[in-house]
Amino acid sequence: DGAFETILVSTAGRVGTIQLDRPKALNALNAQTMDEVVSAAQKFDADPNIGAIVLLGSERAFAAGADIKEMSQQDFATMYAADWFAGWDALTRLRTPIVASVRGFALGGGCELAMMADVLIASETATFGQPEITLGVIPGMGGSQRLTRAVGKAKAMDLILTGRRIDADEAERIGLVSRVVPDADADDTARSVAAEIAAKSKPVAQMAKEAVNAAFETTLHQGIQFERRVFHALFSTQDQTEGMDAFVSKRDPQWSHC
Ligand code: CAA
Repeated sequence: DGAFETILVSTAGRVGTIQLDRPKALNALNAQTMDEVVSAAQKFDADPNIGAIVLLGSERAFAAGADIKEMSQQDFATMYAADWFAGWDALTRLRTPIVASVRGFALGGGCELAMMADVLIASETATFGQPEITLGVIPGMGGSQRLTRAVGKAKAMDLILTGRRIDADEAERIGLVSRVVPDADADDTARSVAAEIAAKSKPVAQMAKEAVNAAFETTLHQGIQFERRVFHALFSTQDQTEGMDAFVSKRDPQWSHC
């Protein structure tokens, strides 16, 4: 899309792809990139013909963090007035599933952006970390909260207090990523996982995502109640009727996405 300068946007079938494209800065995330990623993703989210979004970086870097050069001269008043990084919240409100392929560096804001995705595919070359403490700050795009919820206190404290990097195998072992694949396969794996999700009924996939995310916001009892009500609600959709009828008739379902 010619309207964007820091990302590349494309579609293939029911999958929309956003690729970070600031190679000289290792895809460092500046305010423009944030606006562009959010705006492209919101457009996909609103498109009934898009069932999943793929988020890609480059071979060297998914993203090496928030743009340090953009932040280095800021003061409290400007950061506070701009509510710096709050714009990223919009990405986490989207209902369309997001699959990220992480190759190379996913540091600071890069790791935090990856954690905003729903399914994380890591290349064997991927490295993750929250090095903000080495810059005299702390994570600012959700890292102290999302990393802790993803991997627990022991690993989150270790990573955030030391700033050390972990490789893809450790990231998978601690539950930060969904799968690790050879570097040459990472982007294609993300695309095919996205295609698999996009081939499902869109509202059903969206509600499944909503239900999993409810686990981070509710008590267990409230979460179970939410899940059960959503489960019941799905019996008002054509796709529930179709999905179960197709199984009983031993044929493939034809989703109408409603
Ligand atoms: N912001 C701005 N520019 C960055 C950047 C960042 N986060 N990361 C890399 N770059 C730039 C470098 O300044 C360099 O630019 P120049 O060619 O103009 O000097 C270019 O990208 C290539 O980087 P290097 O020469 O440093 O490449 P390397 O292979 O030697 O090292 C690296 C790679 C280890 C990732 C190193 O670039 C690095 O440590 N980057 C910063 C990582 C970091 O601290 N990230 C956290 C940022 S703060 C944050 O994200 C806050 C938050 O919570 C949201």
